Amino acid sequence: MTISMQALQEAADYIMQQTPLRPRIAFTLGSGMGPLADELQNATTIPYADIPHFARSTVQGHAGQLVIGELQGHTVLAMQGRYHFYEGHDMQAITLPVRVMKLLGVEIFIVTNAAGGLNQTFSVGDLMLITDHINFTGMAGHHPLIGANLDAFGPRFPDMSTPYDLELQAMARRAAQQAGFTLQEGVYVSLSGPSFETPAEIRFLQIVGGDAVGMSTAPEVVVARHSGIRVLGISGISNVAITDTTSDRETTHEEVLEASHIMASKLVQLVKGVLAELANPAE
Ligand code: HPA
Repeated sequence: MTISMQALQEAADYIMQQTPLRPRIAFTLGSGMGPLADELQNATTIPYADIPHFARSTVQGHAGQLVIGELQGHTVLAMQGRYHFYEGHDMQAITLPVRVMKLLGVEIFIVTNAAGGLNQTFSVGDLMLITDHINFTGMAGHHPLIGANLDAFGPRFPDMSTPYDLELQAMARRAAQQAGFTLQEGVYVSLSGPSFETPAEIRFLQIVGGDAVGMSTAPEVVVARHSGIRVLGISGISNVAITDTTSDRETTHEEVLEASHIMASKLVQLVKGVLAELANPAE
């Protein structure tokens, strides 16, 4: 599928007809992170199914709706649930909402996910600040910017030397410190799923420098950066990776969802801290 500028504009126009609010900050809330959207005031909720050219979201734990409202003095847009490659959507469909965010005027994208911990020092329930990523699906030929370049968004060969905004990272560190919890940091590895990794795959991802692994995020971030949107990425460590085939442990979606409920409250604190600093810059 190649997405046209007209289709993107139709989606943006539909959203703008539902609310007079014009968000400058957008969130994508991963598995179990949806509760952040409940914090929005004066909220308008729009099911993805109603928005022209949006695909349907099918995963348990993902609501499949967009909420626009106010949080900490900012007008924000929250995507409750995202599209995944493993659902059968192509990369352009998965990243279409990010392009629509750009047309709505979004300047900052805060992306969250549940991820498996590759770094042995991480524990279930930790939040990890994403400092960089490895877009394995993109490197394997499923890159969201393949096809005609939409010059209105950005260049054919966009730079990715700083995918995650350094200033936003600093704000997230300060917010976690103020809230009193440890914020881990590291490299997020993006795979297609839907199977979880084998122990040999886990060991491979550890060797190449991954700290957390999941089935989303990097494609959305690449498309956001293509159009100059600043990105903050947060992974919730929902399970720790299994490195040994003789282990009697398993990784399950239920385990992932259970842990994300615990992490959602930390995420709310972190995000509120970052939004407070954005409203009132320290220096
Ligand atoms: N692997 C891949 N994706 C995930 C995991 C995992 O262990 N946990 C949550 N999403």
